[in-house]
Amino acid sequence: MSSVPPVQSQPENDTVLVVDFGAQYAQLIARRVREARVYSEIVPSSMPVAEMLAKNPRAIILSGGPSSVYEEGAPQLDRAIFEAGVPVFGMCYGFQLMATVLGGTVDNSGAREYGRTPLTVSRSGSTLFEGVPDKHSVWMSHGDACSAAPEGFTVTASTDVVPVAAFENDERRLYGVQYHPEVMHSEHGQQVLEHFLYRGAGIAPNWTTTNVVDEQVALIREQVGDKRAICGLSGGVDSAVAAALVQRAIGDRLTCVYVDHGLMRKGETEQVEKDFVAATGVKLVVVDAEERFLTALKGVSDPEQKRKIIGREFIRVFEQAQADIIADEGPAVEFLVQGTLYPDVVESGGGTGTANIKSHHNVGGLPEDLEFQLVEPLRKLFKDEVRMVGQELGLPAEIVQRQPFPGPGLGIRIVGEVTKERLDLLREADAIAREELTLAGLDAEIWQCPVVLLADVRSVGVQGDGRTYGHPIVLRPVSSEDAMTADWSRLPYEVLAKISTRITNEVKDVNRVVLDCTSKPPGTIEWE
Ligand code: XMP
Repeated sequence: MSSVPPVQSQPENDTVLVVDFGAQYAQLIARRVREARVYSEIVPSSMPVAEMLAKNPRAIILSGGPSSVYEEGAPQLDRAIFEAGVPVFGMCYGFQLMATVLGGTVDNSGAREYGRTPLTVSRSGSTLFEGVPDKHSVWMSHGDACSAAPEGFTVTASTDVVPVAAFENDERRLYGVQYHPEVMHSEHGQQVLEHFLYRGAGIAPNWTTTNVVDEQVALIREQVGDKRAICGLSGGVDSAVAAALVQRAIGDRLTCVYVDHGLMRKGETEQVEKDFVAATGVKLVVVDAEERFLTALKGVSDPEQKRKIIGREFIRVFEQAQADIIADEGPAVEFLVQGTLYPDVVESGGGTGTANIKSHHNVGGLPEDLEFQLVEPLRKLFKDEVRMVGQELGLPAEIVQRQPFPGPGLGIRIVGEVTKERLDLLREADAIAREELTLAGLDAEIWQCPVVLLADVRSVGVQGDGRTYGHPIVLRPVSSEDAMTADWSRLPYEVLAKISTRITNEVKDVNRVVLDCTSKPPGTIEWE
């Protein structure tokens, strides 16, 4: 094994901290900062300012939040944050806090604005608004408003309702806007954010996925040393990218395990066995456990029961594979690779490097009592960044661009008992839907599109010369940011028609295709 190469640049020395005042704005801001090629991390607003400053941030962004600065118990901010010489950018609630702490005036005089609002830039050419049109629309969401900027600040934008919608102090490198530049509906929002980062804070856009790969490879080598690691591959993008990174770092001291439970979609197992291995050179053990899973699922139609059985069998098979690998390779197998992502870390209040094994949303629930140390090379990345890293590592597009797919696989997309025949039938229908959606260029618009077989329902049809008693197939295309909420995708009728015709013509025993037009909530994305 070659020695650890130097990390080409130290992008994390350019860290921007995003202080989270609640309501999920912080994650979006952190993503936008990274889209500007600057590394960012989220910290809770309860973190003492001294601790934030100890991280040596190049800049700090104060997020929006649901509170009013006047509310009892509303999150506050130590003024020391503005006196450390670190550039600060306040947004919405962060802006109002900044205004109050620095001696400006914020009042709740009924000057509320929600949604798209015209903004007037009064100082074109300012640090934030250079090259931005004087009139543009921004996204507002506030009940209180700033009526007087703190001393030393220049007011650089206003709205019909709010006299101070942006202020800037170049000398102290402190900036703020009343609106949400991070949301898509704010025109030029990204430009304003980039102006803060590049012009206000003087940070160069150096953070790239190449940095991530170099940095992670070095860190993994350091962590694993000359030991060995195991990684469970699910066919999904997270475990694939995590495995590819670790493979690049430690080569064939990594063994991947792929449990083929027979519940995958058409072609997916082959993609892992052939294309993924070809692209990465990873050492792969495939366990063909279809028989075992189908036997365990026989006669079961309760969704929770199915999930439990699939999870249980998965753990048993994985443990056996792991024992075999240890028997083969010896006790040096000390590490387990996990595709934990940054949102999982933030949402579980983590970020401290403690082991947190994902349960519901991973491979199918890995055993919790494993005596392994975890290697989690994606802990700092958002999903879209993971895809970029995957691309950088040369993984097949089919894997990198893959939509989320549940651990229990097609087992929870058959309403009724899971049998081999039903799985084959669903695999055909699903493959047709996927093919047509891709052909129509809709993949980027759709978060995921479960195709569900209502195996316990008989529908009457007329096909050829006679009546048929087949089963309906449900299409469930949804758009979403994070699967917590979702809306049903408004697919073009021609595409739906094509999918419907092909499925009813080509898939035996299916005589009806229906579209699920329910948002989440109230419906979940999966049917079971
Ligand atoms: P729901 O159906 O809860 O799905 O709206 C939200 C997201 O989670 C996926 N999902 C699962 N993933 N094991 C998993 O690994 C599961 O049991 C499971 N159930 C749902 C679903 O595909 C969607 O992306």
